[in-house]
Amino acid sequence: EKGTYPHFMLKEIDEQPFAMRKIIQEYQDDNDEIKLEEDVRQAMANSDRVYIIAAGTSYHAGLIGKEFLEKIAQVPTEVHIASEFSYNMPLLSEKPLFVFISQSGETADLRSVLVETNRLGHPALTMTNVPGSTLSRESDYTLHLHAGPEIAVASTKAYTAQMAVLAILAVDTARAKGLTLDFDPLKELGIVGNAMEALCDQKEEFDQIARDYLSTTRNCFFIGRGLDYFVGLEGALKLKEISYIQAEGFAGGELKHGTIALIEDGTPVIALATQEHVDGSIRSNVQEVVARGANACIISPEHLTREGDAFSIPTVHPLLAPLVSVLPMQLISYYAALHRDCDVDKPRNLAKSVTVE
Ligand code: F6R
Repeated sequence: EKGTYPHFMLKEIDEQPFAMRKIIQEYQDDNDEIKLEEDVRQAMANSDRVYIIAAGTSYHAGLIGKEFLEKIAQVPTEVHIASEFSYNMPLLSEKPLFVFISQSGETADLRSVLVETNRLGHPALTMTNVPGSTLSRESDYTLHLHAGPEIAVASTKAYTAQMAVLAILAVDTARAKGLTLDFDPLKELGIVGNAMEALCDQKEEFDQIARDYLSTTRNCFFIGRGLDYFVGLEGALKLKEISYIQAEGFAGGELKHGTIALIEDGTPVIALATQEHVDGSIRSNVQEVVARGANACIISPEHLTREGDAFSIPTVHPLLAPLVSVLPMQLISYYAALHRDCDVDKPRNLAKSVTVE
């Protein structure tokens, strides 16, 4: 039920702080440590490489998940688009573990990969919001996203839940390997939940950004470096699927290799600048597009915000910044779609669960 909300999408964006708290609660033991099933732990310990398989928004969560697994747990990880993987399988390592990320647990492109990896006898773990789903039933292990039912076609709370559970898996694996961590993951996810709540309380600002930057535009670009690049890909997908504005996300450094040719007077460029080590370089990319007439909108965390930035988001642990910086992307897309009279919850040509290949 939508309750007082005009759309499921807005309700589900608002539910993200609760979903974070639910995930922390579900994955926490009595000593405030991470609780994971022993067989999932074993599966991680027994594998030499993780292969993440996903589609759409879940694929974007997978890109972030690779960073978590490699940076936190030192587990080599590859991320693959399910529909590509099924006919273009890379050389596999000796002990692969397949991780399927799927909100619905029913996506046919993923299922066809799972059927093949099961046939080859490789272990599979599904991360899903629907534990009784096909992918969950047909794989060896399941991690529940605990985001609650997601009705709007555009995925929002499942995406942040996917990233949170991937972070938990990475931290647990790091601990099992005896690696020392410089942060308490569950505490940091709590801080993320609070940051999400603060953003949900500032909706008018995103409504205004959508008016200022997107009300009449034909296209829009999202740029970032590192983790911000992946959030930009998700921002572009959200915007195009619900507002039908042509949008593209790309790595800041790639601009000069072609895409900058598309920048004209007034072209909106949404730049994410949450990562301190690339702050200077992403800001110089912004200057390059502004010099060509772009209407740049910089989103940065409080500790890196400079005069002229469009919006300042609360600072969280830098690896977890995507869980927070995607909320402005979701809300800006929502308002852009609303201003253009689009059917926010049921965009044309799309289905919530894609059960055909
Ligand atoms: C975008 C969106 C889709 C899904 C994709 C995978 O907002 O919802 O891109 O992410 O179809 O679906 P699941 O996660 O159910 O496998």
